[in-house]
Amino acid sequence: MNLPAPGIIWSSLPIPALLIDDDDRVLEINPSAELFLNISARSVKGQPLFERLAIDAPLEEIFARARTNMSALFINDVDVGTGERAPISCNLQVAPVADAPSHVLLLISPRELAGRLGRAEHVRSAAKSAIGMAEMLAHEIKNPLAGIAGAAQLLAMGLGPEDRELTELIVEETRRIVKLLEQVEQFGNLRPPEKKPVNIHDVLDRARKSALVGFAAHMTILEDYDPSLPPTLGDADQLMQVVLNLLKNAAEAAGPSGTIRLRTFYDLSLRVRRRDGSGQALPLQVEVIDDGPGIPADIAADIFEPFVSGRENGTGLGLALVSKIISEHDGWIGVDSVPGRTTFRISLPLAPKESLKDMEVI
Ligand SMILES: Nc1ncnc2c1ncn2[C@@H]1O[C@H](COP(=O)(O)OP(=O)(O)OP(=O)(O)O)[C@@H](O)[C@H]1O
Ligand SMILES: [Mg+2]
Repeated sequence: MNLPAPGIIWSSLPIPALLIDDDDRVLEINPSAELFLNISARSVKGQPLFERLAIDAPLEEIFARARTNMSALFINDVDVGTGERAPISCNLQVAPVADAPSHVLLLISPRELAGRLGRAEHVRSAAKSAIGMAEMLAHEIKNPLAGIAGAAQLLAMGLGPEDRELTELIVEETRRIVKLLEQVEQFGNLRPPEKKPVNIHDVLDRARKSALVGFAAHMTILEDYDPSLPPTLGDADQLMQVVLNLLKNAAEAAGPSGTIRLRTFYDLSLRVRRRDGSGQALPLQVEVIDDGPGIPADIAADIFEPFVSGRENGTGLGLALVSKIISEHDGWIGVDSVPGRTTFRISLPLAPKESLKDMEVI
């Protein structure tokens, strides 16, 4: 095989690259670097590098070391600016050039994307340890709380009505904390889903009925279903929990006079790419739509993270649980919110044909 000419490789390189001479002047700059730095090769060739680029690192020193040691150096997380644009965080590589030891090659990789992906992982593991910690605390705090409530109840027996109000307050507040702690514990105890083919409408019906006799008692919950929707493969109880959590949030946002719409439909266009690179269609769509004021802008980007709540008494675990369950069902959840219309959409895979003999009827 014939290798392409070095010039072709240079101009096809998808990473911004600059060749620097022994005087730290720009000898060559590839098209990616022209684009990234927003300067033309013509205008920059022969110019001192440091007059054209603001790099927040002792590059002269680094170049000198690369030249003397004849080895490549890496510098991570450096701000690179051109004077006209806000600096961008980059990773740099500086390599000596074999044939011309006084020259160095400078490669610039913008960190933006890598940084963002890294951050998502980081958030996930931070959330995990926050949950682990909260679980441990929950367990430790519940026991003494039972003691406190018990002692307050004993105290109440010997008190007049006025003071009894205070002991009742203690009992009520401890109960509230216990409830909250139980929610935290439940989050940690989620078992893996037991998947069977499920008709999603059975799940929606159950959740709707339960909401209408409970937290959504005076609300209207409309049904807008595509009855021909085939079954998904899932854990009916966990999916019910998902729908209940979404209904609860919708009810809390829209208030007693609000309206919630449950909608199902088939849409083959959505596919997800898994970590291993394979793709899967998620054609079953379930939407929970409310006419409340919408998700507060300051938390909108983080609502699926644990402990993020816009409500005074919220634990912020509802949607974290929802997203955990949906991801264990190989599904996807998204949200679209403007004042007056908030839509949470869950997309789920089809139950494989061979599994249908175990169809669960609930
Ligand atoms: N349908 C909705 N409309 C407006 N805001 C919403 C809606 N659903 C969720 N939110 C916002 O997202 C936040 C996070 O929701 P999440 O269910 O995770 O926690 P929570 O409801 O605050 O507490 P918990 O569910 O644990 O009792 C809510 O506090 C609320 O501010
Ligand atoms: Mg909630």
